Order: sequence, then C-alpha cells, then structure tokens
Amino acid sequence: MIIKIPKGTQDILPEDINKWYYVEDVIRNILKKYDYKEIRTPIFEHTELFIRGIGESTDIVNKEMFTFPDRKGRSLTLRPEGTASVVRSYLENRMDRTSKVVKLYYFGPMFRCEKPQAGRFRQFNQFGIESIGSQSPVADAEIIAAALEIYEKLGLKNLKVSLNSVGCKKCRVAYIERLRLFLDKKEAQLCHDCKQRTFKNPLRVLDCKKESCQEALKNAPKIIDHLCEECRLHFKEVKALLDHLKIDYVIDDKLVRGLDYYTKTAFEIASGELGAQNAIAGGGRYDNLVDELGGKETPAVGFAAGIERMIITMEKQNLPWPEPTAFDVFLVNTDEKKKSIALTLLQKIRKSGFTADMDISGKSLKSQMRTANKVQAKYTVILGEEELSREKVTVRNMESKEQKEVDIDNIIKTLL
Ligand code: HAM
Repeated sequence: MIIKIPKGTQDILPEDINKWYYVEDVIRNILKKYDYKEIRTPIFEHTELFIRGIGESTDIVNKEMFTFPDRKGRSLTLRPEGTASVVRSYLENRMDRTSKVVKLYYFGPMFRCEKPQAGRFRQFNQFGIESIGSQSPVADAEIIAAALEIYEKLGLKNLKVSLNSVGCKKCRVAYIERLRLFLDKKEAQLCHDCKQRTFKNPLRVLDCKKESCQEALKNAPKIIDHLCEECRLHFKEVKALLDHLKIDYVIDDKLVRGLDYYTKTAFEIASGELGAQNAIAGGGRYDNLVDELGGKETPAVGFAAGIERMIITMEKQNLPWPEPTAFDVFLVNTDEKKKSIALTLLQKIRKSGFTADMDISGKSLKSQMRTANKVQAKYTVILGEEELSREKVTVRNMESKEQKEVDIDNIIKTLL
C-alpha cells in the first residue's frame, strides 16, 4: 500500500511549477521596484513567539498550531504566519540600526491545522511584506497599492478591498467594554465559541461567520465610531491617500482579522471567484508588536497573501499562463557502446546554454524520435555509427525538417 500525502497538504507537480515561477517572478519584480528586500526565516520557531505575537485567545494559537517538543522538551511550532518571525529577526539582527524604515518581503510555506476545504489548506504558501519603522499613513496606502499592482500585473479582476480601523491600545479598551456590554445582552443568540469570545476577546465575535452571531451583531457598536483622535485622523488619511491613488475600497466595520497584533488600519482583499475562503490577502498596521516582542516601540504595517488562492483565482478567471520555454536539443543515440560519446556531447551542448536531454531507458530509434517530437525539441542531434566514424553527427531542424551532417566539433555553432 502506498503512503498518502497528509490531509490539507498538496504536491506542486512539475506540470504546474511554471505557474509558481511566473507568479513569484511577478511578485519579486514588483516588490523590487518598491525597494522591499527579501528575508528568509526558519519554518519553525519557539512556540512562545507565536503565543506572544499572534495572541493567546486567537483561533490560530488556540486551535491551529502544529506544536511539538524538540528532543530536549522545548516547545517548537511550525510557523502559522510570517509577521512574528520577521519581527523576531528584525529585533535579533538589530535591523533598526541599518535604517529607520526597514522594508522586507518573504515567500514560504505556513502551517495551520484548519479543516481543509476549497482554498483552505494545512500547509499553504504566502508571500508577505512588512514595512517596519514608519507611522505614516503613506506606508499603509503603499502596501495596499503594492498588493493591487501585483494582482493587476497578473491580470486578476473582480477584487474587493475591505478596510477598517481597529483603533489602538488607548481607544480599543473603551470600545471593547462597550461591545462586551452589548454582547452580554445577546448571549442567547451567540454560538458556543462566541459566548467564550465575549468574555476573552469580544472583538473576535465581530469576525464570526455564523448566521446567528451575525444577526445578533446587527446593531452592535462600531469600532470606527469610537476611535481616538489620532486613530481617526490616521484612518482618514489612509482613505484620502487611497482615493488619490484611485484605489476602490469598501469600509467593513466588522473586519477585525484573526490575529491580535493589529492596530489602526486593517484590510483584506477578496476575490469574487473563491466562495467562502475568498480572502486572497490580508494585513494591517501593528504598532505594538515590536515592543511586545521585546523591542522598543516601533510602528509597522504589512500584509500577506495566499499564493494558492491567487493561482486558483487566476485559473477560475481563465488568465493566460506564459508558454513553457521550448526545449532546444534532443540527442538520439541507440548504440549502448557510444554512451560516453553521447554524454560528453550532451554536456557540451548543455554547458553552452542549451536545454538538452537524451534517452537513458534503452528506447529504439523510432521511439527516441517520437520523444524528441513530444518534448518539442527545436533540434534533434543523431549519433549514427557511420557518421561518428567520420567525426560527424546529423542535426535535424524539427520545424523545417531539414537535416544536415556537421562536424562534431562544430555542433554548437550549428545550434546557435
Ligand atoms: P492572514 O489573513 O492570516 O494574515 O493570512 C493572509 C493570507 O494567507 C489570507 O488572506 C489567505 O490568502 C492566506 N491563507 C491564510 N490561511 C490559509 C489557509 N489555511 N489556506 C490557504 N491560504 C491561507 C497573516 O498571515 C498576517 N501575517 C498578514 C500580515 C502581515 N499582517 C501584517 N503583516
């Protein structure tokens, strides 16, 4: 019996890898223009980082982390997201000394033990950007613009940007109290989880997708009506900057996001094609995370986007993928005794920059010619016994079907 792949994970097969290269190239090229630098952090971290960073009462920390002890019993966790790790690295590597504003991006697999469904996996890939050090609303608007430029370059249509402000330490406390009082009166309508959330972290109730909870929230106090002056002004400026950039958005006063570190701006970008798991990107400002993880107070803003969800959306929208690059040379040799000559020639062709291959499974001449056709080789180089004795090979142009004998030493010139 073969061993199957774990639930919620997937292989990215060779026939699909070009899509990933393409999407990653577009992302890298655009982020380079914005002066973001790539960072690679470990796939696992000390569990404490995520508990402190993401928040103890979030679903991610409570229910979804892949946590395991190392051999000495220390608790490690497969990263469920990238922001906490990037901030940890920012602090550990004293990046604040290099520059006042540090702009970083990352790619990589993240792990959440969620119930798998369409567009929701237990191992999924994100790219994300983090702009650490600026409290300017320009930073908030810039990252939303960067995300949308990437989606636009990939041709994605029908996207919706939802925007909210979740306030700051100062104004949120009073709002949360108000919300808790409201929720207390609605207790009977709330789901089991939300009853607990009302007590532990009432903001999370706003996010609940259950119909009865959404119904109960109908006249709930809105956080944007309870912002302090600083947060209100910041939100106003972010909106004005987005208007200037002609970026459409809708205000969603229930958007609180699933991670506790957000302050002020919170946003999500959704695709009309994705059904329930429609968020292709999400992010916001997190002005307290750096100090909560042991640094000095440092404002920051960022977002992350699910790459699988981007690719699924592109497929649903029938967007074109770049053609796979054509294969240059297929070398045909049917004489087992000539394999060293064949391999030497093949390596010479490859080292000159061509994509080249040959059969190593003992196929007949006819079958090797069929393979050359199948891989859409531009040229077939045939090692015939008689020609080889004269130090020549036959080169066939597979498109024009022209065939000529060339000196083995001149093969590269012929292919150029
Ligand atoms: P998040 O909203 O948890 O934010 O995830 C960002 C994106 O990752 C989602 O919008 C979605 O596209 C994708 N995603 C999340 N979970 C899954 C899953 N189970 N399967 C497939 N795709 C998924 C964060 O992770 C924050 N770190 C974003 C951030 C960066 N905020 C500030 N900086």
